[in-house]
Amino acid sequence: MKTKKIVSEVSIYEDLTELSKQDQDLLQRAAKARKNAYAPYSNFKVGAAVLLENQEIVIGSNQENASFPSGLCAERVAVFQAGALFPGVAIVAVAIVAAPQRSRSAKPAAPCGNCRQAIYEYEHNQEQPISILMMGSDGRVFKAKAMADLLPLAFGNDFLG
Ligand code: THU
Repeated sequence: MKTKKIVSEVSIYEDLTELSKQDQDLLQRAAKARKNAYAPYSNFKVGAAVLLENQEIVIGSNQENASFPSGLCAERVAVFQAGALFPGVAIVAVAIVAAPQRSRSAKPAAPCGNCRQAIYEYEHNQEQPISILMMGSDGRVFKAKAMADLLPLAFGNDFLG
């Protein structure tokens, strides 16, 4: 029997200003997109912004539904829209801004499992890492250099043969 240790790295920034201008701008676009979230059931608004290699930015926000599972997270709204508008253009980064309404101390929210899987599909296909930026309302930013860091032993389309 062998044991394989899987190490994931996430950087924690105490303040937005510690990030590059590109990362700050992308998080600001996600914060703006969050304003158009439709989240009457959870009151948890999320905004996402996807930076593409061609410098285009595609945004999304969570869109809920009275039939709860029919809603979609901000990240998937954004990456699927990016795939639809710019097929084959590599994704450089995804910024996510989320917090419960009225909370000023929410830690950065990490993408849900389904969104990790959806983003991983693009990362796997493009053979280039997608950095993930996460911001809540407590002022901190978490950054992973690749979706693979948030999804160890990921299932990719190579398993399908
Ligand atoms: N949500 C997102 O948009 N992204 C995530 O990564 C986590 C959850 C949304 C789904 C739902 O509309 C609300 O947040 C509460 O789960």
